[in-house]
Amino acid sequence: MKIVAINGSPRKNGNTAQLLEAVHKEVEAAGVEFEVLQPGPNVHPCMACYHCMDTGSLRCVRDDDGVNDIIAACIQADGILLASPVYHGGIAGGMKCVIDRLMLSAGCGDNQLHHKVGGALCTLRRSGGVETYHQLLAAMDAMEMVLVTSDYWGVVHGADPGEVLQDTEGMEVAAKLGRNMAWMVKTLHESKVPVPKTGHRTMTNFIR
Ligand SMILES: Cc1cc2nc3c(=O)[nH]c(=O)nc-3n(C[C@H](O)[C@H](O)[C@H](O)COP(=O)(O)O)c2cc1C
Repeated sequence: MKIVAINGSPRKNGNTAQLLEAVHKEVEAAGVEFEVLQPGPNVHPCMACYHCMDTGSLRCVRDDDGVNDIIAACIQADGILLASPVYHGGIAGGMKCVIDRLMLSAGCGDNQLHHKVGGALCTLRRSGGVETYHQLLAAMDAMEMVLVTSDYWGVVHGADPGEVLQDTEGMEVAAKLGRNMAWMVKTLHESKVPVPKTGHRTMTNFIR
């Protein structure tokens, strides 16, 4: 059983990284493997070529920035934790690039993400946290994932690297999210109830 976390910050050992360290401890203590993948500052956006969907390759044609490794890891994982800094009131640009390509390659078409456990966290100096948290959740919400929450929104404050550790309440919210995600992963793993029927839905574009 494994949860993969995507750290959407371009900064090494920034607030998102330090927050995920704390979540890592909680998840491993609960008996679930945890790995953080951080694509860094050089990720490319989705080119809207639809090659991934047209071919069912489950990969992006852009193969030079590590995002395909993240896509493969997410397909393998039991749970996915999206963690991003807030940039101008929304998901940080690099993280948005990863999400667009992950969701199109692995989630649209032959959905490989359905019924995986999902959770979200964001880090920020002051404003835009709830909006960003909900943007992260919305990406997984549309992938038929099982969304897990904490007892408050996954919004943790800190500007300079390490400040996030001073947000006691935010750190507790994140730790609880980690425990809840691990619990859901284990619960689904041990469940004898079969996964409900899923598959393609009718896609319309509202003009025909
Ligand atoms: C381009 C840019 C835009 C930002 N926009 C916001 C913002 O809208 N709201 C906010 O509270 N913090 C904003 N911040 C601050 C970061 O969200 C904050 O420093 C966060 O902790 C960074 O996480 P990291 O250390 O993991 O990179 C911004 C930072 C950058 C570099």
